Amino acid sequence: MHLTTPTILALLSATLAIAAPTADKGHGDKYQKDCKKDWDNKWKNDDWKKNEKLFYFDAEYVVKATPDEVISTAGAPTPGQPGAKGIFKYGINIAENTICYNITLSGVTGGYQSPAVTATHIHEAVKGKAGPPRLAFPNPTGPDERRTSYGCLKGPFFVGTNNTQGADNAAGFHVKQIVANPSGFFTDTHTTQFTQGAVRGQLA
Ligand SMILES: *[C@@H]1O[C@H](CO)[C@@H](O)[C@H](O)[C@H]1NC(C)=O
Ligand SMILES: *[C@@H]1O[C@H](CO)[C@@H](O)[C@H](O)[C@H]1NC(C)=O
Repeated sequence: MHLTTPTILALLSATLAIAAPTADKGHGDKYQKDCKKDWDNKWKNDDWKKNEKLFYFDAEYVVKATPDEVISTAGAPTPGQPGAKGIFKYGINIAENTICYNITLSGVTGGYQSPAVTATHIHEAVKGKAGPPRLAFPNPTGPDERRTSYGCLKGPFFVGTNNTQGADNAAGFHVKQIVANPSGFFTDTHTTQFTQGAVRGQLA
């Protein structure tokens, strides 16, 4: 095909017409510049120090765990260690499938025991019921008056005990399930002397 000047001009303008929607790119650039300016100003003004939490949590739970809440795997009330108590604090970030924990036990004595990878858990069950572990946290350590454990776990999770289909009880578990229904979960720790649980508490 022989291209005349008018044809070339027509083709050019057609190309430009197609390219026109990318004029939006200008807004994107401006937006990015504005963001950068905000960030630069924040950085200079020390504003960045204010209201900046280290981690963002969609939900936080502070759970008092006691011996009288313990339920055996068979589903029967089975008191834990007399006089023991626990404060289990959790923060959940749904987007990162992450849970941070700060656990303090007082009056829990002796070694830990559980078929799972650790003996300190969040299980799925309502108050008064037994249910499988979904998360296993490092066991609190320290003197018996004050054993502590803190850090964060990020999915995919693993607890080391299997369901009836032979899959790990944490397989496919997402922390958003806790946020959606906190009263359907409890936290506890198991010891050699109190295998069903030394203390237990519902997340809500
Ligand atoms: C954990 O919580 C206790 C109070 O229950 C607090 O004294 C301690 O500083 C917290 N630890 C961390 C790592 O935030
Ligand atoms: C769980 O099942 C896996 C295979 O799916 C197996 O390798 C593992 O030993 C089982 N664990 C337990 C505690 O039964």
